[in-house]
Amino acid sequence: MTLTPSAAPAPKSFGSDNHAGTHPAVLRALGEANRGDATAYGDDPWTARATAQLAEEFGASGVFFVFNGTAANVLGISLMLRPYEAVVCAEGAHLNVDECGAAERIVGCKLLTAATPDGKLTPQLVTDRLGGRGDEHRVQPRAVAITQVTEVGTCYTLEELRRLGEFCRANELLLYMDGARLANAAAFLGCSLADLAASIDVLSFGGTKNGAMGAEALIVMNPSLAATAVFQRKQQMQLASKMRYLAAQFSALLEDRLWLRNAEHANAMARRLADGVTGVPGVQLHQPVESNGVFAALDPELIETLQREWTFGVWDDREHVVRWMTAFDTTEDDVDAFVSGIRAAAGAITA
Ligand SMILES: Cc1ncc(COP(=O)(O)O)c(C=O)c1O
Repeated sequence: MTLTPSAAPAPKSFGSDNHAGTHPAVLRALGEANRGDATAYGDDPWTARATAQLAEEFGASGVFFVFNGTAANVLGISLMLRPYEAVVCAEGAHLNVDECGAAERIVGCKLLTAATPDGKLTPQLVTDRLGGRGDEHRVQPRAVAITQVTEVGTCYTLEELRRLGEFCRANELLLYMDGARLANAAAFLGCSLADLAASIDVLSFGGTKNGAMGAEALIVMNPSLAATAVFQRKQQMQLASKMRYLAAQFSALLEDRLWLRNAEHANAMARRLADGVTGVPGVQLHQPVESNGVFAALDPELIETLQREWTFGVWDDREHVVRWMTAFDTTEDDVDAFVSGIRAAAGAITA
């Protein structure tokens, strides 16, 4: 997909929160970090500051900056497993579907997947994948990987996280959480980042989709898992020499809780979009709207018509489900224009 820069303002993309640019405060922080020399590989004041801020925010044992979400997931999983161990995850997990087999190749582990209608794992779904424990012929499940916000825009409640955490501890399983959109979950649930991480051993905290230019943090909650992280990060080619530029982005997002304001705004825009299309013929919401994503089943003709003018993806070809994403910089006018476009196209089809 090409989103060509042009003189005329293009309609806002609803294709991904990755389509959005960088928040001005993050760009300012990058400019400020760009003064003079700093020691490389994280031995600099910006990294010290952002690391301390995130450690406090989460109550974490270790904080490790990486370049992207796939790397965070791979590094996180690699802290947990021995060579013959496996990860239980949802069938639709980014880790399973959208990371080009990175975990399989780089960690060298097997992913044991579970089908789930709403993107969420439950103790029962995990139990169903625990067969063969202790059998030397079978891969040994050792970790569970969940995504918060899930790939279909839903959120685990704090109670669901607590129950999953308890289940994992009782069953000698470690719990990993892909938090590429963790800010949106905190905004939806009205809780702190520490609340979200309380039952988790290792998680990622996404900056990029929240307004950073490209920075993610791996947050290690379980102190027994932090010791190898720096070595594995380097082997996995994620140790930034000019680390200050990753760290400064996080400090900008943490300043006056910009991360939360960005996420609250993006979520509110998704809610506005969902409300705007409710009742439109040929449009059926497919998942509850609990973050900055709207998943809707559409009349296939409507998809084709809309995609001539608007940027968004088809999530599920078979069921004609589309994914509309909002971002920190989506405006009410952007949403209203899109809703009008949807209403007009739907009207033309049914007329
Ligand atoms: C759930 C989830 N996890 C992780 C990622 C991070 O992926 P990337 O490696 O492209 O930064 C994404 C990005 O789309 C995502 O949606």
